[in-house]
Amino acid sequence: MNIEFAAGQSPTPESALALLVFEGGALAGPAAALDIASEGALTRAIAASRFKGSKGQTLDLIAPAGVSAGRVVLVGAGARDALDALTVEQAAASAYAAVKTSGLTALIVDLSDLASEQAAHAAFGIKLAAYRFDRYRTKEKPEQKPSIETVQVLAAEPTVAEAAHAPLAALADGVGFTRDLVSEPANVLYPEEFARRAKDLKKLGVTVEVLGEAEMEKLGMGSLLSVGLGSARESQLVVMQWKGASDPDAQPVAFIGKGVCFDTGGISLKPAEGMEDMKWDMGGAGAVAGLMHALAARKAKANVIGILGLVENMPDGKATRPGDIVTTMSGQTIEVINTDAEGRLVLADALWYCQDRFKPKFMIDLATLTGAIIIALGNDYAGLFSNDDALSEQLLAASKASGDNLWRLPLPSAYEKQFDSMAADMKNIGGRPAGSITAALILQKFVNGVPWAHLDIASTAWKKPSSNPTIPDGATGFGVRLLDRLVADNFEG
Ligand code: BES
Ligand code: MN
Ligand code: ZN
Repeated sequence: MNIEFAAGQSPTPESALALLVFEGGALAGPAAALDIASEGALTRAIAASRFKGSKGQTLDLIAPAGVSAGRVVLVGAGARDALDALTVEQAAASAYAAVKTSGLTALIVDLSDLASEQAAHAAFGIKLAAYRFDRYRTKEKPEQKPSIETVQVLAAEPTVAEAAHAPLAALADGVGFTRDLVSEPANVLYPEEFARRAKDLKKLGVTVEVLGEAEMEKLGMGSLLSVGLGSARESQLVVMQWKGASDPDAQPVAFIGKGVCFDTGGISLKPAEGMEDMKWDMGGAGAVAGLMHALAARKAKANVIGILGLVENMPDGKATRPGDIVTTMSGQTIEVINTDAEGRLVLADALWYCQDRFKPKFMIDLATLTGAIIIALGNDYAGLFSNDDALSEQLLAASKASGDNLWRLPLPSAYEKQFDSMAADMKNIGGRPAGSITAALILQKFVNGVPWAHLDIASTAWKKPSSNPTIPDGATGFGVRLLDRLVADNFEG
């Protein structure tokens, strides 16, 4: 699909023309003009429907008289004075969704009465909405294939819109990279293959190092390595660096992802039903890789570290047993009560390694860490845990601006006794109460004075059905837009 910006329109019968309609008010701008050209067809259509211009609503008019486009799509945009970039993204994405498989080949979105930056966001929303993972479909019915081939966004100043769109296109590519990684099945995307795909980021100027099991053993990463013992695939630690700041030695910011390419639970085996979902237990690592892609592609003026802890959690004769005690790189020991609580074992060493080597300004980890976060927050919010109020506020502001929703939860030290061990420094689980919080508290034991935040994205990395038109069903790319925004708003220039 091709997206371009233009000043004027001459829609053909093969195209759909999308127009924004605001809540409550009369038709304005291009919609008002088209209503006149069609002798009131838009007004009559609205009167004959429940369309009120609310966000998320669309109304289709097929081949109205006096209009050259084959179809007019009215898209609700909510209150006019509350129109922001996110609303425009989602409205444009809704317009695309409405005509995606209509048989029409072109979509024209007329935003010529808005700021040109808004037009850039419309194109961004459509690019995100048009994502599909179709590598393994060889027999798709033609009527299920998207028919839209070109998208034209009409802007008051197309060159301004084009320039504003460039970094957003880079961001959308980063989100797409994450979605591809998360969608891949575990027979294709195992740790070494994930590491190979991360190495593709070298093309964008990212430095990529890959540590194998021998190197991690030398570093003392007994905790991360214990997770992969039952797997035929070798565990990997990927270290990515993007140096975009004017001073290449300036203190970096760091992102760390849980990359469990498949989580069977290990010897504490998960039930069969739904286990296939555990191919996306690398969603945190996928988000970090997509973020690095986005930052490098738009040449972000910041020094950024991305670390991926890549393992496969399998049951086997060599696998870790419940009751085994592992020694982490930090020197602290963990009694593995449940081998299905493996993400924290991976992150314990990845976090320690990150702060030990890079002394970052802050570290943020992303992990599909607990089923409990889905019970607590449902599928529209990820959990935020942090030892730093300023970093939390920056994250919550970036969350609002990007649409990747976060909700902060507490880290009460009193709950730490839930994972006291009789045999080691701690157990790897804290029982059923506050399962997401005790998991975060265990991670915090491996944070050594650095501002840190943990995002539990088990709730948001994958969704079906999706509640957001910029996210097709499946891998969401959650975290990429959020953290790109965090970096852009606080750590560049
Ligand atoms: N990867 C899972 C968490 C998960 C569960 C993500 C469901 C998405 C959907 C994680 O490794 C896990 O198994 N966590 C356990 C922890 C428990 C054993 C303390 C869980 O949440 O049940
Ligand atoms: Mn698990
Ligand atoms: Zn897991």
